[in-house]
Amino acid sequence: MSTIEYSPRLITIVRSLPRYAEQMQDLMHAVYNTTRENPDGTFLAEQFRRHMEIFQEGQFVALEAGRVVGLTASMRIPFDPENPFIEPWFTTISDGWLKRHDPSAEWMYGVESCVHPAYQSRGVGGKLMQARFEVAQALNLRGMVAGSDIMDYPKVADRVSPEEYLRGVIEGTYFDNNLSKQLRKGFKASALIPDYLGEGAWGVVIVWHNPAYDPTHPSGGTVPLRRYRLLPRK
Ligand SMILES: CC(C)(COP(=O)(O)OP(=O)(O)OC[C@H]1O[C@@H](n2cnc3c(N)ncnc32)[C@H](O)[C@@H]1OP(=O)(O)O)[C@@H](O)C(=O)NCCC(=O)NCCS
Repeated sequence: MSTIEYSPRLITIVRSLPRYAEQMQDLMHAVYNTTRENPDGTFLAEQFRRHMEIFQEGQFVALEAGRVVGLTASMRIPFDPENPFIEPWFTTISDGWLKRHDPSAEWMYGVESCVHPAYQSRGVGGKLMQARFEVAQALNLRGMVAGSDIMDYPKVADRVSPEEYLRGVIEGTYFDNNLSKQLRKGFKASALIPDYLGEGAWGVVIVWHNPAYDPTHPSGGTVPLRRYRLLPRK
């Protein structure tokens, strides 16, 4: 993948298309410091294409001059907020193949979101989240659930428990490059998940309730095609 540097040009968020799948695979490598030779749990282009086949409305990319600088992947699953699932990410997502996707389920599950490091903290991830929330609203889903890796916890893990860290992120004492941003955009933290991304790597179940959910109407229907534009913050 060519090196990506921040440019203050317009970013467009559109539904993912098969032709972006190879770039999506490489974007995950740029974000997670992995490679095609050593993918370490990141998705293959083939898996992204599968996501587009089973739930096209839930997949988005952020494009800057035709280059993929951000992405989200989603599926629909049954979920009970009173009994959140406490399990590793790879289990929930069937190792990237989204076998639990249920086109009649009333919750959206946030499979993955990532933004190229040169574009993080400039508003791109927030717009991707907005795109997903609007899909959940268009489909009259109850809300959205995800597991959030607490990626900056290892920096303080020798002196702070995961429970204290989570409390600190909620209260704003700690800034977590993943969880803090999800909470700012409207998710609420629900429960800690041990071994979420491997042994000793904690995650947190996060939930967003759709304020427009109408229990008198069924979930489903068509989602209007929408394109989002933003100028990334400096
Ligand atoms: C998590 C991630 C996708 C968020 O994308 P992003 O483009 O960096 O997010 P945004 O810049 O839109 O930030 C979202 C909100 O967090 C807050 N925020 C962002 N950067 C911040 C900072 N440096 N300090 C304080 N708050 C910040 C803002 O409130 C922002 O919302 P706003 O733009 O409406 O004000 C991205 O940081 C990423 O790829 N992280 C690494 C991969 C990862 O952990 N993915 C999730 C896997 S579970």
